[in-house]
Amino acid sequence: MAPVITIDGPSGSGKGTIANRLASRLGWHVLDSGALYRVLGHAAAEAGVSLEDEDRLADLALEMDVRFHDGKVFLNESDVSLAIRTEQAGNAASRVAALGEVRAALLQWQRACARAPGLVADGRDMGSVVFPDAAVKVFLDASPEERAHRRYNQLIEKGLSANLESLVSEIRERDDRDRNRSVAPLRAPEGALVVDSTALSIEEVLERVLERVREILPELRC
Ligand code: DC
Repeated sequence: MAPVITIDGPSGSGKGTIANRLASRLGWHVLDSGALYRVLGHAAAEAGVSLEDEDRLADLALEMDVRFHDGKVFLNESDVSLAIRTEQAGNAASRVAALGEVRAALLQWQRACARAPGLVADGRDMGSVVFPDAAVKVFLDASPEERAHRRYNQLIEKGLSANLESLVSEIRERDDRDRNRSVAPLRAPEGALVVDSTALSIEEVLERVLERVREILPELRC
């Protein structure tokens, strides 16, 4: 199997940015696993499947044709990149992600993303469940306020509407659900480099991650 670097952490901790920067620096593939759960939440709404119907959601997860291309996300050939980034889609994602059958249905799809020359996988359970043998594991965190602020800026930049106060409470609610669910709860995997990015710039976080990568995979010369 190709080498894997996992980047786990809560929403808005900067995982996506760091995963993308690292992947382009190494020339590796990148997996945004959160987008998969978001696409499933979106597909369920379109198909009129209840977010509590675990069996049907798991079937939908196996049937849906998801593709990542050029920074965009496609569901059955239609571009859903913007639709899956709303707070509503994030909440639906968090609900479907709490279901064991859904997670099991998406497991092989995610593992198949580990192709040469390597994969940077971004999510909640990348280092703990999906790629337990990953060469390098990173766990990124930041305070809920800082994460809400970052999400606010992202949404505004994309021309979407946002309210900072409700973002803070939604982030706390989602954290709670992601950390306390019985299947694959969000937590730092054993042996992970834990970085609190609250007061760090993207460059500083990336440098800490690169230090760890150089230590473990010196042959990459990054
Ligand atoms: O990273 P994100 O905000 O796009 O993730 C959306 C939701 O999906 C989030 O509430 C947690 C869930 N998720 C998960 O349970 N496991 C993953 N590997 C990735 C995301």
